[in-house]
Amino acid sequence: MKKLIKRILELENISKELEPSEAKRNKYFQQIQDYTNYFINDIEETKAYSDKKVKQGVLSINGCKKPLSRLLQVYADEVVDKGINAASGRHIGYVPGGGIYTSALADYLADVTNEYAGLFYASPGAVTMENEILNWMKSIFGFPEDSAGALTSGGSIANLIALTAARDHHKIKSNKITKSVVYLSPQTHHCINKALKIIGLEDVILRYSDLDKNSRIDTKKLNLQINKDKTNGLNPFLIIATAGTTDTGAVDSLMEIGKIARVNNLWYHIDAAYGGFFILSRQKKEIFNGIEMADSLVTDPHKGLFIPYGSGAVLVKNKEAITHSHQYTANYLQDAARNITNIYDPADVSPELTRHFRALRIWLPLQIHGLEPFIACLDEKLLLIDYFRRKLQEIGFKTGPTPDLSISYFWYPSKIVDENMFNKKLLELIHKDGNVFFSSTVINNKFVIRMAILSFRTKLRTIDKAIEIINKLRLKLEKDFDLV
Ligand SMILES: Cc1ncc(COP(=O)(O)O)c(C=O)c1O
Repeated sequence: MKKLIKRILELENISKELEPSEAKRNKYFQQIQDYTNYFINDIEETKAYSDKKVKQGVLSINGCKKPLSRLLQVYADEVVDKGINAASGRHIGYVPGGGIYTSALADYLADVTNEYAGLFYASPGAVTMENEILNWMKSIFGFPEDSAGALTSGGSIANLIALTAARDHHKIKSNKITKSVVYLSPQTHHCINKALKIIGLEDVILRYSDLDKNSRIDTKKLNLQINKDKTNGLNPFLIIATAGTTDTGAVDSLMEIGKIARVNNLWYHIDAAYGGFFILSRQKKEIFNGIEMADSLVTDPHKGLFIPYGSGAVLVKNKEAITHSHQYTANYLQDAARNITNIYDPADVSPELTRHFRALRIWLPLQIHGLEPFIACLDEKLLLIDYFRRKLQEIGFKTGPTPDLSISYFWYPSKIVDENMFNKKLLELIHKDGNVFFSSTVINNKFVIRMAILSFRTKLRTIDKAIEIINKLRLKLEKDFDLV
């Protein structure tokens, strides 16, 4: 016994390193704070993109102790300085969000207190907070109070949960799969296809709808296709609409699709991962009419609420459907099971048991700032895309159709060199320059530069700067091609 105690105390002495003293905590915190202050103070000047490579081996782990100051330098040089600067307002490429500071503080708080957020029994406060956020979302989207839902790591997992509920509600088991039909848009985010594969529905029939001139699902043709499929003895069971497509920000005709789903008794899923929170905008309310008809809905706080990455949400009206595949108990959870209330445990509506306490990173910013600045920011983005498109047109660029939300695209109509080649080269130059970041996509076989304005840090001056850069690089490219 003596030997045992001696060894335990020896180990305690070594492992106490994991609980730094207050003085050491303050020192660490100061260093992190100094770095994050520097990062934020400098954000308007730092590049939005860098194609520099990560130095080989610098991030590898060798098990030895290193000072935080050195690690912060490595972090700044090898992580923050490489690739897309997702915190920058000049990241106008893939759907950005920015990542608001008070949410980062909430993560710090959640991590230090290490709140468990899987079961009400273990963490009644954390779970209640999560449910309050979901209740708030239900009220925004017109979902009944008794709907279920979960906060997820992002839109992909949220869609996965929703589609699982759709599958279970319609009892799409192996004998039915190859006759079952899912209706979606060619603009549907690829995470939906991924989710269908993951949940065993790879072999369902996917009916990609034709689109109207605004890239929305053509509802007349959708209706005809459903009737045809029914007549042919198939099993239509799911329609997926998008409220804010990734390519062009289009919002499908949610009400009309909802009516079609209702008449045909189909599960109606809306992926509003990118666009959902624009419902808060004073300018866009009516475009979301019909969203309340969905059986399940996905929206991402790490997009439209500017929360740092790691925040999605799913709402599902039918509790039995969402819990069918997710609600389990086990001997080692019998204490939790004894505490059954009418409150849904997050673990009952998601594949996760132990999960990050995601509620606080949404709750704290909403409580500290109130809703108004969030709404103003969304309104601002809608006006900025309009401003950006007009400015682009002024300097000779073509732009896609007026967008429903804050994603659009543009290209330079080069007369002499192949247009696709010109715009590809232009984007390469923009990436090399790195002061502003755009992505690209293909629309009607045309290579176009895509802009997604959603960072809370994207301002009028950001767009002016972007225009200045685009124009400078376009002129350079024309010179290079000897066109001027
Ligand atoms: C419409 C849409 N759905 C789903 C996703 C996937 O969300 P996440 O990247 O959070 O998993 C995205 C991402 O941009 C999206 O735009």
